[in-house]
Amino acid sequence: MADFHEFYPLRRHNTFGFDVRARFAVHVRSEADLLAALADPRGHGLPLVVLGGGSNVVLTGDLEALVLLMEIPGYQIESDDQAWRVTAGAGENWNDLVGRTIADGLPGLENLALIPGTAGAAPIQNIGAYGVELRERFAGLRAYDRQTGTFVSLDLQQCEFGYRDSLFKQAGYGRYIITAVTLRLPRQWQPVLAYGELARELEANPAPDAAAIREAVIAIRSRKLPDPAQVGNAGSFFKNPLVSAGQRAALLQSNPDLVSYPQPDGSFKLAAGWLIDRCGFKGVSDGPVGVYGKQALVLVHHGGGTGAALLALAHRIADTVEARFGVRIEPEPVVL
Ligand code: EPU
Repeated sequence: MADFHEFYPLRRHNTFGFDVRARFAVHVRSEADLLAALADPRGHGLPLVVLGGGSNVVLTGDLEALVLLMEIPGYQIESDDQAWRVTAGAGENWNDLVGRTIADGLPGLENLALIPGTAGAAPIQNIGAYGVELRERFAGLRAYDRQTGTFVSLDLQQCEFGYRDSLFKQAGYGRYIITAVTLRLPRQWQPVLAYGELARELEANPAPDAAAIREAVIAIRSRKLPDPAQVGNAGSFFKNPLVSAGQRAALLQSNPDLVSYPQPDGSFKLAAGWLIDRCGFKGVSDGPVGVYGKQALVLVHHGGGTGAALLALAHRIADTVEARFGVRIEPEPVVL
């Protein structure tokens, strides 16, 4: 029988630190634990919620659900002529995994240092930072398919990765429970220094290795993003919106300092942080929830607030940005 905890407090299982309870929660440390939890009659008829680090969810109230706390460990290296393949248990802390691969002489994940959350959660939103997305280092994953009741392997294509998006947020939403992730790190390592801020951070170092890049990324992130251990947050709360070239040109007329990035398909990504900042929200507080003072894209919870209050603030921000710029910004985290 699985080890069910009833009315389990989730405050320490979501990086916003919202104080809600799960009707049932189970620590899942192996695939056998997972099967036992799913077979347990106490959970039958309840919705299932899978939590990794809880760093990309907004919990808006108590969960009348069975919550799986994914803690499956694992770290294995295989290799061929071209690349190393590192398989990590879904419960491994992502940032620790990045550090461990680099310490083991397997470069490739350095730009993704200090992203909160677990290895198993990384594919859900195709984590990305400083010019690299998970999909560029991804070989495949193993998951329990609730539809067929079997374990399956999904490869890069099957995961349908997009910008902060994947199969697991779209057609496969709720269907798969990821238990392990396999990364592919080419032996022919190439540093990715295209992101201006990262290049500037490394100006003094003409040939940085992966360890130096990791340290630079950690330095930048620590300056701009709040540490969830200090103040509740889920990283970027909004995705950077895509607009057409025409829409960007029109916006540039009245906003010559608009920040945008050209996309391969001719469209442009706008910096949502800039749009929000320009609407005057940076550093604004609404009781226990607010907008971070150093990065307008990040919403924060100072304690004692609710996910509902945070969502209300998020809607107010999105409505204000839309009224001013005619662009709708969408939340990045999953709302439960
Ligand atoms: N900006 C402002 N005001 C602000 C924030 C940003 O004017 O309050 C401007 C900046 O000056 C800059 C531009 O907006 O010119 C972009 O800002 P930044 O470089 O900080 O990056 P971002 O677009 O805000 C994205 C990701 C981050 C990722 C960084 C680095 C999204 C939604 N966010 O942020 O991802 O770490 O780039 O690659 O794509 C996350 O997903 O949780 C996350 C932190």
